[in-house]
Amino acid sequence: MRAERTNLDVSSDLGSLMRAAAERVAGLAQASVAARGRFSIALSGGSTPRALYVLLAGEPFVSRIDWKKTEVFWGDERAVPRDATDSNYRMANDALLSHVAIPEKNVHRIVGEETPERAARLYEDDLVAFFGDARKSDAFISFDLVLLGMGPDGHIASIFPGTPPVDEVQRWVVPNESPFLPKMRITLTPPILARARNTIVLVAGAEKASRLAEVLDGPVDAHRLPAQLTLSGGGNVTWMVDRAATSALAPRD
Ligand code: 6PG
Repeated sequence: MRAERTNLDVSSDLGSLMRAAAERVAGLAQASVAARGRFSIALSGGSTPRALYVLLAGEPFVSRIDWKKTEVFWGDERAVPRDATDSNYRMANDALLSHVAIPEKNVHRIVGEETPERAARLYEDDLVAFFGDARKSDAFISFDLVLLGMGPDGHIASIFPGTPPVDEVQRWVVPNESPFLPKMRITLTPPILARARNTIVLVAGAEKASRLAEVLDGPVDAHRLPAQLTLSGGGNVTWMVDRAATSALAPRD
């Protein structure tokens, strides 16, 4: 897969990347509400997305998003309680959700304190209740926006290299083991991630440059680089990166 088939948006540094990402999220939120009366977003864990959430909680972005018509989901969660320091829910709640007027019913938490299998089934039931049972429909569109980070090993959400979710074709949510602590995760799968209307993958820092080049310029092998799953999805996928992360990319015209 070559990068000319992916949208690559390069910002000069982390600060301008976060502002560019916040601008894009706010724009998509406004367009989604205008077109469909709601904005559904799946949040990511990780330190790069966290900086974006902090920006979205403040002006000028916070008042551009209609939080009463925003439905918040997660792309993955750790199998930990909601108040655990490594909970993706807690990170997003501390950075963003506790600062905005979003109705509690619009926050679709993955219940990390359940067993991973039960948490996955409960979350899938929630997704089916929200989107309808379109698991077999070719015309199905899922989230208005999926936010993803990319791990140093090329993972997205909690789809790690060489793990079963890379090949999942039926279920929308599955448990998975992580090579990083906490070990047990719950993650969205390719069938629902690929159906997102828009996907933003946030990548920052020189330490991810070589992996980013493998993902965007190298041969496609999603078992080795799950981030390449985003290259074959149906929606608009934009890689939003800082210049430091692009240092190993092939020249682009
Ligand atoms: C998680 C995230 C994970 C994260 C990447 C990138 O639960 O940790 O969903 O997929 O987005 O590991 O994280 P950084 O942006 O902190 O490198």
